[in-house]
Amino acid sequence: MERLKNLPCISENKKVIILNPENKRWVKMPVDLYNHYLNKAGGVNILCDYLNRKYRLFEKNNIELPVLKSVYFAVTGRCNLCCSFCTMNSSPVTSMENDLTLDEIRNIVLPKLEQLEPQKIVLTGGEPFVRADMIEIISMLNNYFDKNIITLQTNGLLINKADVAFLSDNIGAIEFSIENLFDNRNNLNKMKQIFELLKNKKTVISFSFVAHNATKRYLGKALELCDEFNAYFILRPLSMLGRAKDQHKSDTMQDEREVVLLYIEALKYIIKLRCFTKNICGLFLEQPVLRKKCGAFGNIVALQPDGTIYMCENLRKYRYELGNIRTDSVPQIKNAIKIKMSSRNFRQEFLIKPSVCQDCIVRFFCSGPCVAESVAFNDNSCRIRKWLLEFNVFYADAKKTLEENMRSLLLFLESKYHETYF
Ligand SMILES: C[S@@+](CC[C@H](N)C(=O)[O-])C[C@H]1O[C@@H](n2cnc3c(N)ncnc32)[C@H](O)[C@@H]1O
Ligand code: SF4
Ligand code: SF4
Repeated sequence: MERLKNLPCISENKKVIILNPENKRWVKMPVDLYNHYLNKAGGVNILCDYLNRKYRLFEKNNIELPVLKSVYFAVTGRCNLCCSFCTMNSSPVTSMENDLTLDEIRNIVLPKLEQLEPQKIVLTGGEPFVRADMIEIISMLNNYFDKNIITLQTNGLLINKADVAFLSDNIGAIEFSIENLFDNRNNLNKMKQIFELLKNKKTVISFSFVAHNATKRYLGKALELCDEFNAYFILRPLSMLGRAKDQHKSDTMQDEREVVLLYIEALKYIIKLRCFTKNICGLFLEQPVLRKKCGAFGNIVALQPDGTIYMCENLRKYRYELGNIRTDSVPQIKNAIKIKMSSRNFRQEFLIKPSVCQDCIVRFFCSGPCVAESVAFNDNSCRIRKWLLEFNVFYADAKKTLEENMRSLLLFLESKYHETYF
């Protein structure tokens, strides 16, 4: 009994979930079966032995070393566009004067990044391709890292057809921002040609769609585009950081009810268009993972154009600084991460979830509210995240098709919506 008593257990939809936050394993079983074991003489031991043999539920973890999962490398703050919502405040007039030079990237940044051993590198900006030397940067990166760990975030408008073969050979995945394309037929046609070439090369592509009052009417078109080019769909409800704070003050997309409606609308489109692909449905259906903390607490770093390193690209304040890659050695950077992770205040900020989370049924599967958003405007809205997690943990059925699961998710969200708002 002791073994079972020490682990949290949650129950919903006639299922019981026993979880072990330490080794991140969890098991779901019908509540009747669980009770059957509990009520039978010696049943608890039989159950525990079985759970450990089959799922290693009670196994102790080897001491977990902190792993640097992702480096977000903003190669410049400048952009060819000036999106009203840009968290990075990028624009065509952003200074590039203090950006890391090609020589610095070659001689300082890449050797240090190699020693930090990241599992993933995201090239971002600003717009990476405003740098005339971007192709050289990507080539140099490939001397150090497998292309499959390199992701590029871009609005794509500065990419030419002639660049496609190079990008396909040197980048593992490309994430295009598409919300601006539907207002401009020329840009859309140009980008469709690039997408077609990348699709033929079987390069992994994702389309990121920031939804706000002026773009949400294009949601259906965005999904059609994903379907046409077999792209992953990333739906980004407007985050009120950077320029969005001033330029989207009265945008209804900051209201969590609107965000829920947006997801319901996206589901309806998918069902109407019948695009039941894993790339598109993956936005809604995913295998839940036990989480204790946000990645910014030790698993990611954000390298800025001037070499400053932060815990997250949206936490660009002195408090969250880890040093500067121009001047700090790798041991100094690793030590700065270690100091933050052992600081009482930082542990409090990143590891202790607010009181709203204490009774939340999916709290073990959620890293808690976004720290950057909490710092900026004390926002803890999470309704859609909570409901999607709840569905995936307790209601999604791996034996059913994507279409069947998507249809039951729609019914689930609609009933939650009505229960909550009417
Ligand atoms: C800052 S951009 C840099 C890369 C590139 N210029 C682009 O737009 O893809 C990185 C990502 O952040 C997203 N983003 C920017 N501002 C945002 C906001 N206020 N809310 C949600 N996503 C945002 C962009 O849409 C893009 O997918
Ligand atoms: S979101 Fe991307 S494309 Fe838009 S201004 Fe910011 S950096 Fe440029
Ligand atoms: S879904 Fe919301 S309430 Fe639940 S744990 Fe996550 S942030 Fe907290």
